[in-house]
Amino acid sequence: MSKTSLPQNLFALPEIEFFKKLKLLTLIEGVVGFFFVTFITLICFFYLDYDNGVRSFSKTDRFSWLLFGGSVSDHQRRDFLEQECDVFDGQWLWDETYPLYKSRDCSFLDEGFRCNENGRPDYFYTKWRWQPKHCNLPRFDAKTMLKKLQNRRVVFVGDSMGRNQWESLLCLLSSVIPNKESIYEVNGSPITKHKGFLVFKFADYNCTVEYYKSSFLVLQTRPPPGTPQKILTTLQLDQMDWTAMKWKDADVLVFNTGHWWNYEKTIREGIYFQEGSEVRMDMSVEKAYQRAIETMVNWIKHDVNASKTQVFFRTYSPIHFSGGSWNSGGTCHLETLPELGSLSVLAENLGPYNLVNNVLSSLSNRSPKELKLNLLDITYMSSPRKDGHASLYYLGPDVGPAHLDRQDCSHWCLPGVPDAWNELLYALFLKHEDRHTTDPLNMKTTIKNAAR
Ligand SMILES: *[C@@H]1O[C@H](CO)[C@@H](O)[C@H](O)[C@H]1NC(C)=O
Ligand SMILES: *[C@@H]1O[C@H](CO)[C@@H](O)[C@H](O)[C@H]1NC(C)=O
Repeated sequence: MSKTSLPQNLFALPEIEFFKKLKLLTLIEGVVGFFFVTFITLICFFYLDYDNGVRSFSKTDRFSWLLFGGSVSDHQRRDFLEQECDVFDGQWLWDETYPLYKSRDCSFLDEGFRCNENGRPDYFYTKWRWQPKHCNLPRFDAKTMLKKLQNRRVVFVGDSMGRNQWESLLCLLSSVIPNKESIYEVNGSPITKHKGFLVFKFADYNCTVEYYKSSFLVLQTRPPPGTPQKILTTLQLDQMDWTAMKWKDADVLVFNTGHWWNYEKTIREGIYFQEGSEVRMDMSVEKAYQRAIETMVNWIKHDVNASKTQVFFRTYSPIHFSGGSWNSGGTCHLETLPELGSLSVLAENLGPYNLVNNVLSSLSNRSPKELKLNLLDITYMSSPRKDGHASLYYLGPDVGPAHLDRQDCSHWCLPGVPDAWNELLYALFLKHEDRHTTDPLNMKTTIKNAAR
């Protein structure tokens, strides 16, 4: 589960040199070169096909030099739905067919995420597609997803980063619904500033896509009587948020938490930690965060029906404040391209990421699957995307850019990076559905189809 073995340099692959030469060769040799490449491609197709039949990963690796870069190799990667693959290991590729929707066409977006409408001048950040190293993702198909979600519920529970991802999914799915009136909030609540939760129904499919604000995932309550005045509320670390009863029967549950587990947003605000009836005055924020994750895992184990509900935990969404932090003038407004150097996760992002990873691995010997929990492991992949944040452009079209000292380098512009998370969610969801609706022994058909 740990991600220490990711490539250090996603963008400067040695294979590129090879492809430069290959390109030159193709130019010189023209048609002959083209046939040469095609021939190699075919050979590899057959080899990889055989290879997957016997399920040996080390053999696949020998051909990795052909699996990177150029358009030729795109077709050689197998489809994720047909083979196991770490979809979180890969790179961002420029893709002219992106973005998958326009913010103007999506009425389900907070102003805060409509960067271009709010004055952001560049669109580069909308043009990157996530490409896993060893397989291809299915292209996001909203109709397919909606059909699979017929009579079902997708629920996001978490902080505003979860809301960011939820709104991305609303836009992705609604893009294929011609009659936007058929999508509505069941209680008539507006999508803008709100407390609590929002439930959007896609009437044509009787499906709901819901968001419950719960920044800590655990229950926030009044402190027990007789506690010091500085304690305004407590986080009951051994109980899930009270809204859990509303979403425990969802078909797809996507949790996230992390951005609020720091001193400034808890103890300094008078939010202390409680276990049972006891307020733990000296408990560190880190320890409390660990406890909350443990509570979530136990809750999933005991309260979730795994044959109905597919549970995801979306890992920490990286922030990119430079020259300061979120409350001290950090900036990101000059970033227009992803990090092109080595892929490194900033310490401030790695901390919360590792904390959750450590809790999960201490609770399960092998994989989070044992915990009935799928990781939507987006921290590494999102780390190079310092170009994707709202920065100055989160105040709405009438207000204009924010003051330089008041930047948002946590939330993401939409369309943008969270769309890629949802494309991964889509792929994992489809795969899970396939597993539960097709004969797992019927592998030969799948492999044959893939070879075509
Ligand atoms: C609509 O979906 C809900 C579950 O989200 C289900 O309980 C209900 O029966 C469905 N209604 C119809 C008419 O199928
Ligand atoms: C769990 O979900 C499955 C599939 O929806 C259902 O058939 C089963 O009755 C549920 N089990 C319990 C204990 O609710």
